[in-house]
Amino acid sequence: MKLAKFMVTMLGAAALTGCINIDESTNINMEESKDSIVIENIMTRRSIRDYKTEPVCREQMAKVLECGIYAPSAMNSQGWAVRVVDAPDFIEGVTAIAKEMMPQMCEQPGFRNFFRNAPTVAFIAVPDKSYSGEFDSGLLAENMMLSAWSMGIGSCCLGSVIPVMNSEAAKPYLERLNLPEGYHLQVAIAFGYPAGEIPEAPARDASKAYYIE
Ligand SMILES: Cc1cc2nc3c(=O)[nH]c(=O)nc-3n(C[C@H](O)[C@H](O)[C@H](O)COP(=O)(O)O)c2cc1C
Repeated sequence: MKLAKFMVTMLGAAALTGCINIDESTNINMEESKDSIVIENIMTRRSIRDYKTEPVCREQMAKVLECGIYAPSAMNSQGWAVRVVDAPDFIEGVTAIAKEMMPQMCEQPGFRNFFRNAPTVAFIAVPDKSYSGEFDSGLLAENMMLSAWSMGIGSCCLGSVIPVMNSEAAKPYLERLNLPEGYHLQVAIAFGYPAGEIPEAPARDASKAYYIE
C-alpha cells in the first residue's frame, strides 16, 4: 500500500532507534507519486481518532517537539509552551472529569479516553498578552503534526479539551502542566500510532484561495 512505503522511507530518514516500527498498513509508494515527500506528507496527514494503546516512543516525540519549535514565530518570539503527557493516570483522570462535563462526547462507540483515545497528548499554551501567540502556536502545532506523520505517528488537534482542562475539577491536572505565569492553554494535540484505517480527507473548498489579477 502507498502510505506504508512513504512512512518507511521517512522513518529511515529520521534514523531513530529504539522506537516501534510503523504499521505496514499505512504506507505510500513514492515511486508511484509525482509529488515531493513534503507535499505527500501534507496531503496524506489526517486527523486520527483511534490509536494503539502504546504511548509514542519518547525519542520520536523529542524529534516532533524539535520540529515544533523550529516553526517560524513573530520576531522569533517563540510565544508558546508545550507540555507532553503520556501518564495514564493523567489521561484517565481528565477523562473522568470530561465524562461528567460532556457525557455525550464520551458515549460515542469505541470511546476509551477523552483525547480521542490517544496515549500521548501535547498541551500547547500561549501568552495571555501576545498579538501573535495564537498564530505562532498554530505553526508550531502543524510542524509537530506533520513531522509526527512522517514517522507514522497520527495526531488530532483537540480544541474540545480546553474547557475541561480549565474547569475547577481539572485544576490539579492544569497545575501539573506547570505552565509559565501569564500563559493559558490554546489547544491539545493527540498523538499515537494509528489503529485501523486512515480516514479519507474531508472535502476542501478550493474557492477560498485564489489569485487576484
Ligand atoms: C483548532 C482545532 C481544533 C480542533 N478540535 C477538534 C476536536 O476537539 N475534536 C476532534 O475530533 N477534532 C478536532 N479538530 C480536527 C478537525 O476536525 C480536522 O482537522 C478537520 O475536520 C479536517 O480533517 P483532517 O485534519 O483530517 O484534514 C480540530 C482542529 C483544529 C485545527
